[in-house]
Amino acid sequence: MRMSVIGCGYLGAVHAAAMASIGHDVIGIDVDERKISSLSDGVAPFFEPQLTELLQEGLASGRLHFSARMADAAGSAVHFLAVGTPQVAGGQAADLRFVDAAVDSLLPHLRPGDVLAGKSTVPVGTATRLAAKVAETGATVVWNPEFLREGWAVHDTISPDRIVAGVPDGADGESAADLLREVYRPAVDAGTPFLVTDLATAELVKGAANAFLATKISFINAMAEIAEAAGADVALLADALGHDTRIGRRYLGSGIGFGGGCLPKDIRAFAARAEELGRREAVGFLHEVDAINLRRRERAVRLVVDALGGLVFGARIAVLGAAFKPFSDDIRDSPALDVAIRLRGLGADVIVTDPAATENAAAVHPQLSYTRERDEALRDADAVVIVTEWDEYRRDLTPEHAGALVSKRIVIDGRNCLDSAAWRAAGWTYHGMGRR
Ligand code: UDX
Repeated sequence: MRMSVIGCGYLGAVHAAAMASIGHDVIGIDVDERKISSLSDGVAPFFEPQLTELLQEGLASGRLHFSARMADAAGSAVHFLAVGTPQVAGGQAADLRFVDAAVDSLLPHLRPGDVLAGKSTVPVGTATRLAAKVAETGATVVWNPEFLREGWAVHDTISPDRIVAGVPDGADGESAADLLREVYRPAVDAGTPFLVTDLATAELVKGAANAFLATKISFINAMAEIAEAAGADVALLADALGHDTRIGRRYLGSGIGFGGGCLPKDIRAFAARAEELGRREAVGFLHEVDAINLRRRERAVRLVVDALGGLVFGARIAVLGAAFKPFSDDIRDSPALDVAIRLRGLGADVIVTDPAATENAAAVHPQLSYTRERDEALRDADAVVIVTEWDEYRRDLTPEHAGALVSKRIVIDGRNCLDSAAWRAAGWTYHGMGRR
């Protein structure tokens, strides 16, 4: 099927490459000429496992193209809208400027029968508003939210847990749902649940899913606060809770909490929209979820200060991690970097290491020192703080190896990802978050 993907960021670039890989003829469009030129050369403009291979295969097959001209979208049966919806400056709501700009510039190229399929995370009601905008072209607006995780984006796009197709009532809606079923034929044939809903429900599914995940993380981090006060161990608690199949262990990872380009801004936009709809009390808990999450960063800094006996000024601190999570070079709202910046603000000599994100971090926070070399960061450190659970730190770094490099054997495990007994046995003072 011939399709366009408008917006080639994390979501759109992966979607375009994935759609070409399952046999579609895809044109990816973005206003950023540098991004387009990089994608056209088969180079992913950001770190995402498997994306480069998929791009190169798609370009070589002749089924994948990129362009900065919206006119190249003309003639596609379906136009996927995958532009960003950041948090509005000075507020909590989503900024829909890019969504509207993309739709406005697509309008002259839409034909009767075309489907405009929104993938961006938007406040409920947006699809209906856009439908009014495109009505006179004869195109149909549907909502087909994306649930991909950075680091797993290719996998999540090709083999999603479910596909949601929000369509308008009536024959146009039914044929649009059929068209989406055809787009995702390989996944549908493999048994992926395909749920057809109204537009508002499809928009809400995405916000609700992110709100649930954020709540689950903040729930376990709230338990970490209690465990700290009670002398209990939150990691063992999470294991025990997770064996209950009604609860499950995933997203019960305690530590410095969630960040990134999605969960924080999405829960805020979700709450802001609910308040607009007169349902403030229904989302009051999301403010708590946010507050618990942000408290964890402060708590990690406090653990470092206490571990150093209050002597932070001038102390050399190795911060292992800058990305908001492993397998990503994304530093947007990264709790890891936030902890590093706060320690620097207290006068510590902070050296940050990360296998993928140091360049992005240095561009935005030049006040910190950076190295890609883990061991260089560890050398002569007075304290080691693990804030992103890359395999290089969690699995590959032994306490003996690290112990030979540092000045003091003090480790703060901001992701509760180390074997505390092994580190203690090797002479380290180990501090987890909510752990004994
Ligand atoms: C998230 C959703 O998972 C995805 O479905 C949605 O489409 C976009 O937002 P992503 O931002 O890529 O995806 O990251 P995710 O893997 O969900 O992690 C988000 C944050 O939560 C990270 O900072 C991570 O470190 C943190 N996290 C995750 C925890 O602190 N504990 C956990 O148990 C899981």
